[in-house]
Amino acid sequence: MDLIVAADLGCAIGRKNGLIYSLPEDMKYFRRMTAGKTVVMGQNTFLSLPGPAPLKGRTNIVLSADREFEAPGCINVHSFDEMFAAIAGYPPEDVMLIGGASLYNSLFRCCRRAYVTWVNARALDAEVFIPDFRALPEWEEESMSGPVETGGYTVRFAVYRNRAI
Ligand SMILES: NC(=O)c1ccc[n+]([C@@H]2O[C@H](COP(=O)([O-])OP(=O)(O)OC[C@H]3O[C@@H](n4cnc5c(N)ncnc54)[C@H](OP(=O)(O)O)[C@@H]3O)[C@@H](O)[C@H]2O)c1
Repeated sequence: MDLIVAADLGCAIGRKNGLIYSLPEDMKYFRRMTAGKTVVMGQNTFLSLPGPAPLKGRTNIVLSADREFEAPGCINVHSFDEMFAAIAGYPPEDVMLIGGASLYNSLFRCCRRAYVTWVNARALDAEVFIPDFRALPEWEEESMSGPVETGGYTVRFAVYRNRAI
């Protein structure tokens, strides 16, 4: 499994169960990197999607502790064991963890690569954060794009590799 996330310089990724920044180029990148793959997300992230509805052209797996909750059109799982069983049949490079904060923080060590879009900003009212892949000893930077202007911000697309896997 790999993960994909957009974070600012303070590793902030969300507030009020939504994104902080609206970044068209990052949305394009996200669509390209997840197209045809299996995406894994938590209940809050699913509820933050338009609809809410599953992402088209991808197999959607939604993790929730609430057994009454059912995300329509998705594979619903209720524990990490169920989640790992659900992804077991897919090649690891075809499974993308897409959030949110709870899942990134619990599962990043199980990911081989982290695709991090760094936003050159620092939100003051952020509520949820990811680990700082720039500073984790097991993670090495594989690539970093040049600056891209989008949505009024400068972003860079980074790829980190987990040396522990
Ligand atoms: N910037 C980005 O790239 C990006 C991407 C995705 C999401 N986000 C942001 O992240 C925020 C949402 O993150 P979040 O942490 O609130 O929610 P989340 O990670 O999307 O979902 C958390 C859900 O997963 C369940 N869960 C977690 N671990 C579980 C386990 N071991 N077994 C069963 N269920 C489990 C939780 O249940 P319990 O609470 O009952 O434990 C909760 O229902 C939003 O602001 C969203 O916009 C940002």
